[in-house]
Amino acid sequence: MGIIIAIDGPAGSGKSTTARLVADQLGYVYIDTGAMYRAVTLAAIRRGIAFTNRALGVLVKTINIQLEQSPNGQRTLLDGIDVSKEIRMPEITKHVSEVSASPEVREAMVHEQRRIGKKGGVVMDGRDIGTVVFPHADLKVFMTASIDIRAERRAEELQSKGIVTSASDIAIEIEERDNLDSNRATSPLIKAPDARILDTTSLSLQEQSDMIKNWAMEIINKTSNNKDI
Ligand code: CDP
Repeated sequence: MGIIIAIDGPAGSGKSTTARLVADQLGYVYIDTGAMYRAVTLAAIRRGIAFTNRALGVLVKTINIQLEQSPNGQRTLLDGIDVSKEIRMPEITKHVSEVSASPEVREAMVHEQRRIGKKGGVVMDGRDIGTVVFPHADLKVFMTASIDIRAERRAEELQSKGIVTSASDIAIEIEERDNLDSNRATSPLIKAPDARILDTTSLSLQEQSDMIKNWAMEIINKTSNNKDI
């Protein structure tokens, strides 16, 4: 049991690191929905499939994407094989927004995300969690940060994985992706009206995860008090 925490926001706003920390602290499961769209993109590229809604719609019916919890975090399996590393490669990042704009792909992923999260006790991050996947989530957070800081964070993250890049190149890439994600017709990246905004530009990881954890604890305590009455 437990509540549903939805965290949305643009690339590099700190969603995944923060969401993972909050989930650990609450004893919840962390679900990185972006990994699912990345896995579909990897499958499409490997099979040489065009990024059209029709072709992608057929593809998602023939592949199996699983998110597995391991001591080192979430593992993403594509047809039973761990692709957690491959889905972070620049080639996937470059095309993922095109693939995730497909309504057929979204329908299949949202269906699975609801199945995983409906029992609660989850922190789920993505672009449409508070608007489409769980519009009645108990806590909704929309994370943002300045483009410079988002690009810096992402460049550092990639460099730590041995991928050489510059913050200015990353800034161009994430702005392009944010643009595509925010302007697509099906479930665009948008703040849910009842989401709390968390601007992480000048916050530390600890500060931002404490903020979310405190909001969550207020809701958890309220829910259990109501049950006692
Ligand atoms: O980690 P980063 O913010 O770079 O991206 P991600 O969370 O791995 O998501 C990769 C891409 O998947 C996004 O740019 C979106 O195009 C798509 N996505 C989506 O459409 N809906 C979600 N719920 C999650 C990701």
